[in-house]
Amino acid sequence: MKIRSLVMLACTVFSVHASLADDKIKRSDYQRPEAIPAPASNPLTEEKTTLGKTLFFDPRLSRNEGMSCATCHSPDHRWSDGRVVPLGSEELEQPRRTPTVMNSAWLKALMWDGRANSLEAQAVLPITTPHEMNYNMKELVERLGEIKGYRPLFENAYGDTEITTERIAMALATFQRTLVSNTSSFDQWVEGDEDAISSSAQRGFQIFNDEAQCAACHKSWRFTDDSFHDIGLDDPDLGRGKVIPVEVTIMQHAFKTPTLRDLPENGPFMHDGSMTDLEEVIKHYEDGFIQRASLSKEMKPFELSDQQRADLIAFLKTLDGGPLAIEQPELPEE
Ligand code: HEC
Ligand code: HEC
Repeated sequence: MKIRSLVMLACTVFSVHASLADDKIKRSDYQRPEAIPAPASNPLTEEKTTLGKTLFFDPRLSRNEGMSCATCHSPDHRWSDGRVVPLGSEELEQPRRTPTVMNSAWLKALMWDGRANSLEAQAVLPITTPHEMNYNMKELVERLGEIKGYRPLFENAYGDTEITTERIAMALATFQRTLVSNTSSFDQWVEGDEDAISSSAQRGFQIFNDEAQCAACHKSWRFTDDSFHDIGLDDPDLGRGKVIPVEVTIMQHAFKTPTLRDLPENGPFMHDGSMTDLEEVIKHYEDGFIQRASLSKEMKPFELSDQQRADLIAFLKTLDGGPLAIEQPELPEE
């Protein structure tokens, strides 16, 4: 009897410790990095950030001078546009929703299908895409060259006033690297402030990692594995399947795992903007996905109670650091 209760006590103590340790390991997996990464070929500087910010908000980067990067990546919409279909894409057959550019310094693959591999490479795409800014780099370089107010900005950033495609792209990339999520209540909890998030949200964190297996794909402090998966949405867009050979079954209908930080209040969510609330998203993962050959192996049906679903949503809301307000730049004069 005595031995038995000792064993039981030992087991209890052991399991309490095990679950604490377990919890710690998981929490520290989500710790924020201390510094913003930048490539050696384009180090972060304040001067390049100022130039990049000005370019980002300047509609003169589009042919008809009506659209800037910030038209679609707006600070008021968590650096996205809050729209299902981006402005200017209405006539496109398979439009994709505008992703946020927050925390883009850490992106390994850019665009929903990963067709750009750096912020520098990505920056010229929207400028030259017909249904977006519809311009070309040669004429843009000429146009900016005629705006006197840009000269000191380029000179401060690069040492002389020369304007090139590369310099424009490097400055846009640098500014975007500075857009980092504010500290959220989840971050405070990760740092050890036990009361920073509700007990419902804490249960939601466990569900996220255990029953619902969301962390199989939404990993690390940015809540993405930087990889591509078919999560069984009913949409004809082949996503990554259009970029890489059709024989790679697993990449058909696959899209990049998006971050879960700073999600817009009512969506729209997913590459096609097809969902508008988090309950709908969770139910999709429970048993709403289409079975097909390309479906990710990580997509396994499960069932949550209403309470568990509410807990999971409470947790997702703790990942919101609030709007990232910045002072809008003054646009240089001709
Ligand atoms: C008409 C709206 C629109 C404009 C203007 C626009 N974007 Fe985008 N942006 C999008 C859409 C839509 C995507 C996703 C496209 C895709 O994946 O096929 C995107 C993707 C991105 C991404 C990749 C994010 C990720 O998570 O992979 C970055 C970075 C970005 N844009 C930066 C910019 C910059 C810099 C400018 C200005 C030079 C700009 N965008 C102008 C709509 C826009
Ligand atoms: C198999 C990997 C995988 C698993 C498991 C997974 N996700 Fe996702 N998640 C993705 C991918 C990929 C997308 C984008 C899909 C698309 O648009 O085609 C996504 C999109 C989302 C979005 C929309 C975000 C946005 O900006 O549009 C939310 C919210 C989300 N997931 C939450 C969850 C939750 C909660 C769970 C657990 C119940 C979960 N995910 C499990 C890979 C996964």
